[in-house]
Amino acid sequence: MSYLLIVPAAGMGRRLGRSEPKALAPLAGRPMIEWTLDALRGIPFARAVVAAPPGREADFEAVVAGRADVISGGDTRASSVRLAFHSLNPSDADLVCIHDAARPLASGAETQSVLDAAARSGAAIAATPIADTVKRVESDYVVATADRSSLVAAGTPQVFRADLLRRALAAGEEATDEASLLERLGIPVAVVEVSRLGFKITTPEDLEMAEALLRGREPGAGSREPGRS
Ligand code: CTP
Ligand code: MG
Repeated sequence: MSYLLIVPAAGMGRRLGRSEPKALAPLAGRPMIEWTLDALRGIPFARAVVAAPPGREADFEAVVAGRADVISGGDTRASSVRLAFHSLNPSDADLVCIHDAARPLASGAETQSVLDAAARSGAAIAATPIADTVKRVESDYVVATADRSSLVAAGTPQVFRADLLRRALAAGEEATDEASLLERLGIPVAVVEVSRLGFKITTPEDLEMAEALLRGREPGAGSREPGRS
C-alpha cells in the first residue's frame, strides 16, 4: 500500500476575481500551491499529481518541479480528479489523498489523521463543525433553521482506498467533492474533525486572511520563510 496525492489545481478562481489560475495567486511571497505542497511535505507520498488548467501546465511545472507531476485538468473539479486518478493508475489497496490547491493552511498532522482513518475504514474526509446558525432562505427571507448539531462542513484532505475511489469515479458523475460520489454508492465515509485553518481560499477576503496568517507565523514554526528554500 502506498500513499498517493492528487492536488486539483485547474480552477481559474472566478470568485477571486482574477483571470489567472487561483493556485498560482501570490500569497505571502510565493504562489499559493507552494504553500499547499509544503503543508503536506512531511507525509511520505510515493507519487503526487497536480491537475493544472489546460494550457498552463508549463507555469505549474516551473513551480512544482521535482515535487509533483503536472497533468492537464478538466472543466470541473470532478473531471480534474478523474484525470489525475487515471494518470496515477493506482493499485487497489493504495490510499489516494485528494487535497485542494486552494487550502494552503491545511495541517500535515491532520492530513495524517485522515490517512490513518482511511487506512482503517477505506474512506475518510476532513471536516469542521459549523459555528454559525444555518438557515434556509428563499427570496431573501428565512424559511427554516437547520439543526446544526448533526451538520459539518466537508473540506479536504479526502482520502480513499483506490478500489473504492475507482468505483466512485467510474460513474462519471459530477459532485463538489469525491466523498459524495462514494456516498451515492452507499460506501461509508468516516469524518475526521480538523481545524478551521484549513479553510478554502475562495474570495479576495479569504486570500487576505491567509496572507495575514502566513505572514504572522514565527520563522521555523512549520513553514519556510518566503523566498527561502
Ligand atoms: N479545480 C480543478 N479543476 C476545475 C475546477 C476546480 O482542479 N475545473 C480545483 C481548484 O483549482 C481548487 C479546487 O478544485 O483547488 C476547489 O475549487 P474552487 O475553490 O471552486 O476553485 P476555482 O474553481 O478555481 O474557483 P471558482 O469556483 O471561484 O472559479
Ligand atoms: Mg470552482
